[in-house]
Amino acid sequence: MPRGLFITLEGLDGSGKTTQIKRLAVWLEKRGVQPVITRQPGGTPIGDRIREILLDASSMVLAPMTETALMFGDRAQAIFEVIQPALDAGKIVLCDRFTDSTEAYQGGGRELGTAVVLELHRLICRNLQPDLTLLLLPSFDASLARARRRNTRDEAQTGKNENRFEQEQDAFHRRVWEKYREIAAREPDRVVLIPGDLTIDEIHEQIVEAVAERLLLTGRPAQG
Ligand code: TYD
Repeated sequence: MPRGLFITLEGLDGSGKTTQIKRLAVWLEKRGVQPVITRQPGGTPIGDRIREILLDASSMVLAPMTETALMFGDRAQAIFEVIQPALDAGKIVLCDRFTDSTEAYQGGGRELGTAVVLELHRLICRNLQPDLTLLLLPSFDASLARARRRNTRDEAQTGKNENRFEQEQDAFHRRVWEKYREIAAREPDRVVLIPGDLTIDEIHEQIVEAVAERLLLTGRPAQG
């Protein structure tokens, strides 16, 4: 059986990844493909518990290396429990964030650098690489405004400010944004950068174009 296809979505908080994953899943289902959808951190029972620690706004004193190690602990479990079995069964996996997030947020945002993240990925994730990464990256100002809007909305709804990352300063988000651009420039064959401030429909169009191309390359043409 051929290995499945591993597709990741990346971007700053509030970049619309979740909406786009859902739309991509519907597009695939219409073509007779049932994707496996997962997200990081989270996506397994153990991962959900790790996620609580990572996103809880009261865990402000997490050391950057602890944060990084927890991200990789979550990821190792997701690969073991969800991603690798699905790929071995020839399925398409759609994953909301993967190691590029760790490189951007911990490597860039927390300033741990790229080398340590890629080394941990090599050791802990056996260097599992996505076949395709869709990076949703509008201009920095638009990205930041969306993340802030979402945080204010969530807080109004739940009375809680749940995401430590969304509380970070603009300089942190700027470093994350820049690291994402660096990753896209370094790995143009894997990473499709969806730039500009496009509408949801326009982003969806660009995503399906990139996915259809990969499906063709791997010998599974996506009809009409
Ligand atoms: P989440 O609520 O899932 O946000 P989003 O919908 O934007 O993905 O929160 C995940 C947060 O965790 C997000 O702020 C990015 C951060 N993160 C890292 O810092 N490093 C990582 O390796 C991953 C996977 C996520």
